[in-house]
Amino acid sequence: MNRTREYLGAAQAAAREAGHLLRQNIDKSGEIFFKGVVDLVTDSDNASQKMIFKRLSSAFPDHDFLAEEGLCQAKGSEFRWIIDPLDGTTNYAHRFPVFCISTALEQNGEVVLGVIYDPMREEMFWGVKGEGAFLNGEKIQVSKVSDLNKSLIATGFPYDLRESKVNNIRHFNNFVLRVQAIRRCGSAALDLCYVACGRFDGFWELKLNPWDVAAGALIVKEAGGSLSDFQGREFSIYGSEILATNSLIHEEMVKVLELGKNE
Ligand code: IPD
Ligand code: CA
Ligand code: CA
Repeated sequence: MNRTREYLGAAQAAAREAGHLLRQNIDKSGEIFFKGVVDLVTDSDNASQKMIFKRLSSAFPDHDFLAEEGLCQAKGSEFRWIIDPLDGTTNYAHRFPVFCISTALEQNGEVVLGVIYDPMREEMFWGVKGEGAFLNGEKIQVSKVSDLNKSLIATGFPYDLRESKVNNIRHFNNFVLRVQAIRRCGSAALDLCYVACGRFDGFWELKLNPWDVAAGALIVKEAGGSLSDFQGREFSIYGSEILATNSLIHEEMVKVLELGKNE
């Protein structure tokens, strides 16, 4: 029996429930802990993860789990949930209303389902392998912008940008002179959803983790977009580079990223 609908329903219900909690708590001054100088974690990251794990693990007790806030449960299942319980923690801690919950399901190492929920706009994005990508039930597609000059693209910066030279600043400088505009919204998972539904034409970032990109990459792919590393090679959620585009500006973006590599 194909249980995809059951998995999708459970992931959406868990995301809605955790989204409600995040929305309720955004104005409360909960505790902020520091993983690094600029890398934060709040009480809400942990509460959201606990809630999602409780719901999904009671529905699917044999499944494996990987979630950002220190959760790794390996029982040897063919299924593994990959969860970012709050993508956009810095925004959340500042009450900047751009953040989401990202949940993906891997089957035998391949992402087959992705659910991303933005509780502030009540936008539920999802994608199912081979079945397309959706926003609140409507099918979505990438944009038709084919000229980099006319594109709106997005990026982000890694948390070690003060210590590491591999910090995306050269790529940012190169792109900012070649596109219509760049946005840095602070949630990689939502950036990917925005590529999928055509609000952005492209997105690149480095040093992201599987929980940041697993769901979003599938949603982009199912919406007709392209994914690769910075050299145009096959994308992996376990790699350190992501380039996600509407397909039409992919090659042009690879060329700009190559410039940055040699500088
Ligand atoms: C972060 C966000 C941000 C990206 C960072 C991520 P977090 O995730 O996705 O946009 O630039 O690299 O780590 O820490 O808020 O879950
Ligand atoms: Ca994240
Ligand atoms: Ca997070």
